[in-house]
Amino acid sequence: ESVFQQWTGLMEGESDTIVRMANTAALLKVCFGWWWVGFYRVMNDELLLGPFQGPPACTRIKTGKGVCGTSWEQRKTIVVPDVDLFPGHIACSAASRSEIVVPIIRNETVIAVLDADSEHLNHFDETDVFWLEKIAKSI
Ligand code: SME
Repeated sequence: ESVFQQWTGLMEGESDTIVRMANTAALLKVCFGWWWVGFYRVMNDELLLGPFQGPPACTRIKTGKGVCGTSWEQRKTIVVPDVDLFPGHIACSAASRSEIVVPIIRNETVIAVLDADSEHLNHFDETDVFWLEKIAKSI
């Protein structure tokens, strides 16, 4: 809740999507120390790497592929407690052990996904779902 308040302040007066995504990734990274946090934007028929914080990542993901492509296809948040148990998980980094992906939906269409990875198993829970979905709705 406190991070969400900071986030709202940070977004005030700034309407550019890339700027908002960039500062969102930075805020979440410094506040929670997740291994990787960032965005993939839907461009034509694939997800294209957007603003992020963390190590370099895979640049393009097809619909239905990996956790991100599955969240895009199913239009819903996916929490993965152990990435080794998610069929088709795309390992951009061997250090990533658990993951959450939240779709960003405008006019019923997924326009991007917010992805966070942790080097710890079972790191994301319902509290993360609640607040990250709030960010996804407002971004
Ligand atoms: N693990 C993701 C790919 C993106 S990275 O984690 C940054 C997936 O399976 O879609």
